[in-house]
Amino acid sequence: MILVVGSVNIDFTIKVKRFPEEGETITDGSFFQSPGGKGLNQAVASARAGEKTSLVCSVGNDVFWNFIETYLKNEKNLTIFPEVYDNFSTGIAFILVNEKGKNKIVVSPGANAMLSPNHVRNVLEQSNPNFVVLQCEIPFDVVQTVMEMKNKLNFIVVFNTAPFKSWIREIIHLPDFVIMNEVEAKHIFGKDVKDKDSAVNALKDYPFHNSVMITLGKDGVVLLNPEKGRKISHFPAFEVDVVDSTGAGDTFAGYFSAMISAGKDLEESINLAQAASAVCVSREGAVKSIPEIREVLSFLKNLK
Ligand code: RIB
Repeated sequence: MILVVGSVNIDFTIKVKRFPEEGETITDGSFFQSPGGKGLNQAVASARAGEKTSLVCSVGNDVFWNFIETYLKNEKNLTIFPEVYDNFSTGIAFILVNEKGKNKIVVSPGANAMLSPNHVRNVLEQSNPNFVVLQCEIPFDVVQTVMEMKNKLNFIVVFNTAPFKSWIREIIHLPDFVIMNEVEAKHIFGKDVKDKDSAVNALKDYPFHNSVMITLGKDGVVLLNPEKGRKISHFPAFEVDVVDSTGAGDTFAGYFSAMISAGKDLEESINLAQAASAVCVSREGAVKSIPEIREVLSFLKNLK
């Protein structure tokens, strides 16, 4: 069983032809609302990949959480353990998506900032997962609690470094798998990471012994594999027309965790996770664009 410890947001997205300049107003946008948050997106991706998945999170007792709960009612394989607060709003994300499918996101964390180590500890003890997935839209003391319980309960940790926080450097050596994008890699390594060669270069000096993946969008994924003598390999991306890149990294992290947990090797897990992300970016929204495993397999079959 996979347990995702993470954020839940309501995503308010406006699609625009281009991003506004500072001080400019653009009036031709089109709006939609969707459940989101990196934690929820990753949990949904893992569940749609076919693995039994739970999400431990913190939300407000409000219309946003009602909307999200109702939306997820028929989600097979997904159980949610929320802490519900009366005096905090559910997390809110304002997202702009341009014609090229690129996004700009601002989050007001609301109740996500209240997720308590105690609640997470209790859920970990009750559910006894074999995999735990973490990202950084939750408090650092929660991340520390999970790391402390890792050896006691003997689970594997997949850590997604999104969005970048300076405390990541204190704990990056502890998880089994680390997934970062080029922006986070740039902060973590203090080097420009923008393509395959610069990602390979950054990983050459990585001092720790866990597996690291740098996701590079259309440039694919670079993996540092300690199991294979610290071999660094590149996995090209699948080519698709990008409609909305929101949730692509979360889809990758959720699918990767589900595939590794299902016993697939690193290479196959990365391949399936990249295919799932490719389907995700070809559609609109975060949670609503994450594919079921049958859609990912059919995408791969149609390539041949
Ligand atoms: O990674 C995409 C997510 O980032 C969105 O769903 C938004 O809520 C923010 O957390």
